[in-house]
Amino acid sequence: MALLIDQIGELVTNDPAWARSGLSADGEKLGIVSDAALIIEGDRVAWVGPSSAAPDADERLDAAGAAVIPGFVESHSHLVFAGERAEEFAARMAGRPYAAGGIRTTIAKTRAASDLELTNNVTRLLGEYRRQGTTTVECKSGYGQDASTELRSVRIAHQHTDSATLLAAHVPPPEYAGRADDYVRMVLDEMIPACAPHASWIDVFCERGAFDGDQTKAVLAAGREAGLGVRVHANQLTAGPGIQIGVELDAASVDHCCHLADADIDALASSNTVATLLPAADFSTRNAYPDARRLIDAGITVALGADCNPGTSYTTSLPFVIALAVQALRMTPAEALWAATAGGAAALRRNDIGRLTPGSRADLVILDAPSHLHLAYRPGVPLVRSVWRAGVPT
Ligand code: NIG
Ligand code: FE
Repeated sequence: MALLIDQIGELVTNDPAWARSGLSADGEKLGIVSDAALIIEGDRVAWVGPSSAAPDADERLDAAGAAVIPGFVESHSHLVFAGERAEEFAARMAGRPYAAGGIRTTIAKTRAASDLELTNNVTRLLGEYRRQGTTTVECKSGYGQDASTELRSVRIAHQHTDSATLLAAHVPPPEYAGRADDYVRMVLDEMIPACAPHASWIDVFCERGAFDGDQTKAVLAAGREAGLGVRVHANQLTAGPGIQIGVELDAASVDHCCHLADADIDALASSNTVATLLPAADFSTRNAYPDARRLIDAGITVALGADCNPGTSYTTSLPFVIALAVQALRMTPAEALWAATAGGAAALRRNDIGRLTPGSRADLVILDAPSHLHLAYRPGVPLVRSVWRAGVPT
């Protein structure tokens, strides 16, 4: 069964071939086709081009001039948790700074929660993501910080989301207070062997109050040894070695990147590692925003994510993140949309999503707007008309 969506006012393909074709009026990076059509066959995009040249199909949907974009790809989320931290947020807004230790509040609640409670939390947040146009979600563990709760967490993430990450070292839990090295040993000896079969990635929070450079390296290297891809929470609150360790270990992504040294830029610029920026976390913590312009101007691939978690960023809205990136990170609307779609895909080392081109998965959003510019131009407005994942309306 082939479905033709035609009369698309503006189709964002993220396909460089369209950018080069001259049919793209705007947003070279986005490979925009104006007055476009797209054919879905099964779970894939079968054809893309001008509406006037569209072949016949079994069914037809008239987009009536709306913009169509690839579904957002969220490459950084923490959905396996119990409870919330609104009081901590209120205290922060009253002037108290954010510190890594707040994570322990969620660890206590998560350890005490049943699998059903944790699963319900994940599916509730996935529903929020989906209604706002996100069609792929990576999900981290990290609120267990003992072998059994991390195992429960990665299993749930693996079962319900697209990509599960073992955030083995988020913060040393209370029973290891002042003994981070002993905790790392337990991670290497027990947690990674138990959890690796249920995860795709290993992650560490490399930060003051969390894990230092040597500890980060040890955990990431052990995860890699166990067959996991590497990602790192790096340089979020302070400058540190996280970005360079990530690049050394061929991380798919280093995330946050709010504090950048020249050596960090140089390392990223000559690597395959994506810099994933999470400005909603900086917004909610009132911390420094990353210098996106410096990264982009150095030719580094930038992704945007929402970083949904109960501490620093309790949002699932990629449209909000795009609007924020345009204002606070001075990204162009085209750069921000690319980063939240193709950039997220690159951060997950996927080339079948984050784009609308023949053969890619049919993950798309029809906007209640004539152009992608409205995502940043009309912040806070629900512009997602419908969402398709793998060729199926959701
Ligand atoms: O990505 N930075 C570390 N992890 C989360 C915050 C976790 C929390 O505060 O619960 C983040 O911002
Ligand atoms: Fe995070």
